[in-house]
Amino acid sequence: MKIDILTLFPEICRAPLNESMMKRAQENKIVDLRIHNLRDWTTDKHHVVDDAPFGGGQGMVMKPEPIFAGVDGLKQETSNAEIQKPTVILMSPAGRRLDQKMASELSKESHLIIICGHYEGVDHRVIEHLVDLEVSIGDYVLTNGAIAAVVLVDAVVRLLPGALGHEHSALDDSFSAELLEGPQYTRPADFRGWKVPEVLLSGNHAEIAKWRKEQALNRTKENRPDLLP
Ligand code: 6GU
Repeated sequence: MKIDILTLFPEICRAPLNESMMKRAQENKIVDLRIHNLRDWTTDKHHVVDDAPFGGGQGMVMKPEPIFAGVDGLKQETSNAEIQKPTVILMSPAGRRLDQKMASELSKESHLIIICGHYEGVDHRVIEHLVDLEVSIGDYVLTNGAIAAVVLVDAVVRLLPGALGHEHSALDDSFSAELLEGPQYTRPADFRGWKVPEVLLSGNHAEIAKWRKEQALNRTKENRPDLLP
């Protein structure tokens, strides 16, 4: 998979996507990730990327020109290659909310171009004529779409074949199975007098599986009753 991120703050994306599993996925050529500065596609002397909203109001709106120039440029770069048409995503608190199903669907694409919004918004012609999908990562407001893009990229890339050390891990995840994951313990079996549940030390795999299922159900009832039927 190829992923291009267009942002005014490339450094926000760079560090978190160059560590741990995301770093390994790039080293192992599972993802070709490129982080671009939108300002590189401005043509004026002062590299202006935003302007006041028509009709008045607070804040600034991102101008369409650098965004169209960036996305068109990246599309052209890859148009001859044998890769499918890219999916253009805009990170926006007004977008469709990211969930595991969306991450899974996006993991089947071959090229994502992710535009990070900032300021009060993005000129609506970008949304109407360039963007395929607007994505929000949840019901709260961040200062910056670049933070949200990191979340989206991480959620998608870890699903790519070969990205996880253990191929089965993604299947057991919270949300792949409609219940949250239950508790996990490791050594020591007694920490400050708090003991690991006896059943986990029993070696009885049927009992352990049953206990885990119960615990997952309890945790889901407690923390996320909305996930239950
Ligand atoms: Cl994609 N952007 C911003 N600025 N805030 C958000 C978001 C995105 N998703 C949730 N909150």
